[in-house]
Amino acid sequence: MKKTAPHIVVIFGASGDLTKRKLIPALYNLHQQQLLGHPFAILGVSRTEMNDEAFRDKMMEFLPSNETSADFQSHLYYETIQTSEENDYPGLKLRIEKLQKELKAPGNIIFYLSTPPKLYSLIPKFLSKVGLNQEDDGFKRLIVEKPFGTDLKSARDLNRDLLQYFNENQLYRIDHYLGKETVQNLLVLRFSNALWEPLWNHKYIDHVQITSSESLGVEKRGGYYDQSGALRDMVQNHLMQLVGLVAMEPPTVINADAIRNEMLKVFQSIRPIDTNKLEENVIRGQYTSSSIKGETVPGYREEEGVDPESRTETFVAMKLNIDNWRWAGTPFYIRTGKKLPTRVTEIVINFRSAPHHLFDASDFRSAQPNQLVIRIQPDEGILMKMGLKVPGAGFNVQSVNMNFRYAELSEAYLPTAYERLLLDCIQGDATLYSRGDNVEKAWEIVQPIIDTWEQNHHFPLHGYPAGTWGPLAAEELIVSQVNGWRYPCKNLSNDGEYCEL
Ligand code: BG6
Repeated sequence: MKKTAPHIVVIFGASGDLTKRKLIPALYNLHQQQLLGHPFAILGVSRTEMNDEAFRDKMMEFLPSNETSADFQSHLYYETIQTSEENDYPGLKLRIEKLQKELKAPGNIIFYLSTPPKLYSLIPKFLSKVGLNQEDDGFKRLIVEKPFGTDLKSARDLNRDLLQYFNENQLYRIDHYLGKETVQNLLVLRFSNALWEPLWNHKYIDHVQITSSESLGVEKRGGYYDQSGALRDMVQNHLMQLVGLVAMEPPTVINADAIRNEMLKVFQSIRPIDTNKLEENVIRGQYTSSSIKGETVPGYREEEGVDPESRTETFVAMKLNIDNWRWAGTPFYIRTGKKLPTRVTEIVINFRSAPHHLFDASDFRSAQPNQLVIRIQPDEGILMKMGLKVPGAGFNVQSVNMNFRYAELSEAYLPTAYERLLLDCIQGDATLYSRGDNVEKAWEIVQPIIDTWEQNHHFPLHGYPAGTWGPLAAEELIVSQVNGWRYPCKNLSNDGEYCEL
């Protein structure tokens, strides 16, 4: 385990939801495991008028009340500033210096931007104006939350602005999917076993499916979501990262540059979407009102903050081709949506059939080619489906499951994504953070889709009743594959259309 240097975490947007729900609990967990350096301090910054005491009380909402949290609370401080006012930054600098003196802490600082995106260019600029980007007395790192732009142009502008004030190696663009334990396990599964790599290519893999479904709708985020949609909210970032990790070549070492170079190569190899055939390869959907467990559930257009005539997609399914030596001829199907039957994220590697069928399958499901399911969440684990003999006379084949579930490692502690990522940043490891060129490349992939949807108002937007697996058109997308989509259930090993909901 790397050593953690003494530091101060400055959180901009400290009165917001993300801070109390995710960041403070993650920092608390790290403190509890004694993984934060000593001394350390967390300085919340935002416009809301508050003193240290009030901030400490507010942050307790998502923390247990015990001795450790009382101790943790004593590391919390707060400063009220107008984040969009350049004149307030000299005061912020003074407060940081005062804290450093009191705590005898060196100048190691992490700035976390948990603010509305419109401040992403301003805050770094104002920090640089008062020299808080200079590393003479310790590291200065900047964590930025998605969205990294709303399209290719704004993503490029944002990168340009950030790089004006901080160097790339000071920038940590967070994609919380990369912080998930099971996502990292994908790297270990692939590159620490001699078993998979020889099979991990177009010769043995027929196609790959990546599903990230949510049973929730847009909840209170209708205003944001209606401007964003599933393509920007999930596909451009989280799903692309998963595609990158499944498809990348083995890196020479596990470090930020090596991994991110390999991810970039995957994005560079994704075939540009043919906008003349967009309808065949990209399906967009929007949930409509339905009845779930006897309760009427509103459609997307009836949600708070959503335009009643909105054409924003709450579901996307698409087929991607990766034009390189490893993946030529093996399509990747990805889908994501809100108000689907269950919350699950998983990667399904569908192997090709055995070249010659010697045995009878006991039913059609038993004739399935091998599948490797990598379950990111929930019921995290890995499942292999293979054909084995039905006991008794003859040679009947049945598809059986072999699985490993993280829950079985009862002693293992699964850190949350934010916990892992914050610790990595504190320790200066950007491996699990997105690099600027990767973010731009991922935007390049989705931009033609955004443009076509915006320019062609007649492009189909398929309705699907809330609580179902998305529009029928998404089935047609994958119809050429033997068994179509896997319909996962809450638990890893069950699938099929009928699960407990
Ligand atoms: C966020 C999206 O980035 O990821 C949300 O903005 C989405 O809309 C969330 O719900 C999903 O994250 P997770 O970790 O619950 O799969």
